[in-house]
Amino acid sequence: MKVLVTGGCGFLGSHICEFYAFRGDQVLSYDLMTKHELQRNPYSPDTAREYNWNYLESLGVTCVKADVRNAEALADHVSGCDFIAHTAAQPTMTIGLENPELDFSTNVIGGFNVLSAAHRHRIPVASCATIHIYGNELNTNLREEATRYSCEPPAFSESLPTLQGEITPLHASKMAADIYARMFIDSFGVKAASFRLSGIYGPRQFGGEDHGWVANFLIRAYMGLPMKVFHNGKQLRDIIHASDVARAFHAFYEKQVPGVYNIGGGPENTLSLLECIHLIEQLLGKKAEVEFAGERFGDLYYFVCDISKAQRHLAWNPLVSPREGVEGLLTWIKENSSLFSLPQTK
Ligand SMILES: NC(=O)c1ccc[n+]([C@@H]2O[C@H](COP(=O)([O-])OP(=O)(O)OC[C@H]3O[C@@H](n4cnc5c(N)ncnc54)[C@H](O)[C@@H]3O)[C@@H](O)[C@H]2O)c1
Repeated sequence: MKVLVTGGCGFLGSHICEFYAFRGDQVLSYDLMTKHELQRNPYSPDTAREYNWNYLESLGVTCVKADVRNAEALADHVSGCDFIAHTAAQPTMTIGLENPELDFSTNVIGGFNVLSAAHRHRIPVASCATIHIYGNELNTNLREEATRYSCEPPAFSESLPTLQGEITPLHASKMAADIYARMFIDSFGVKAASFRLSGIYGPRQFGGEDHGWVANFLIRAYMGLPMKVFHNGKQLRDIIHASDVARAFHAFYEKQVPGVYNIGGGPENTLSLLECIHLIEQLLGKKAEVEFAGERFGDLYYFVCDISKAQRHLAWNPLVSPREGVEGLLTWIKENSSLFSLPQTK
């Protein structure tokens, strides 16, 4: 088969490209190679930016630099494909607040163009939403334990009302794209899925303070840099390894049951920031330097996905445990430490 992966040279996109390349499929990464988020990290954005592109080319993936906001270019590249995995995005709350126009054009117009191209070419498409679209009102209903927040009920299904609480540009744009996926399903019969994703982690994640906290903590701890924890560190997610998300995309391609899906590690795979730091200290055999900062507008302190809908309709289950996945990510960071030891650019 031939698969087009928007944002293929990003973190998650690279795992989807890798998944299909390993199967021997034809893979096209369609990615604008943006750098605004990487520029906020302490290592070189250029080197980090090129890493996934070079890795994918070594697997035989065709990489093109192109924009999902350009409907014509997108339609040209979608022609002849069997499936679209849409991961290209402005994915952070902080950049969305600084540049709502970029957030809107990338996530809403780009998301619409991708769905529309799938409709025109009559092929299935799975897009990335985020659990942030549920909103952060859940923060008011949490119990504080020693190292984590807990909640009753402990996990949430797709029927949880969305946009409850404070709304940032990212909430609005990601929700709009999720609604457009449903619109294309209902009005035009497109085989579309919108994956409401929890915290994803894994190799090739150049995590920073805004996005990708597991990788951000690991890179910083390994390089001996301080980690910054916003709020008290008891924030909790059902983290999910990128390879498991890549498998979810293919599970959707195989089953093609349209709809919205919560995709996360589920109740078996939860980790708080403090617990993640503790695990990293165990793995590295040294104490990490941690700085605590205040709260951040829009942050969601607790989310665990009820993944039973994806289990039922897509016959999908996450396979990688947090300990196993974090160990694997640490191995990748150690093997590529030169990427992170470059002179500070900021
Ligand atoms: N990483 C997570 O923990 C997480 C959690 C929930 C949801 N998501 C969603 O998963 C998706 C992938 O996230 P990620 O962590 O891999 O992000 P990423 O920033 O690593 O990758 C996004 C890619 O999209 C590309 N891109 C940006 N604007 C583009 C445009 N206009 N046209 C084409 N390409 C463009 C970038 O160059 C980048 O390579 C996003 O939709 C994100 O919102 C991620």
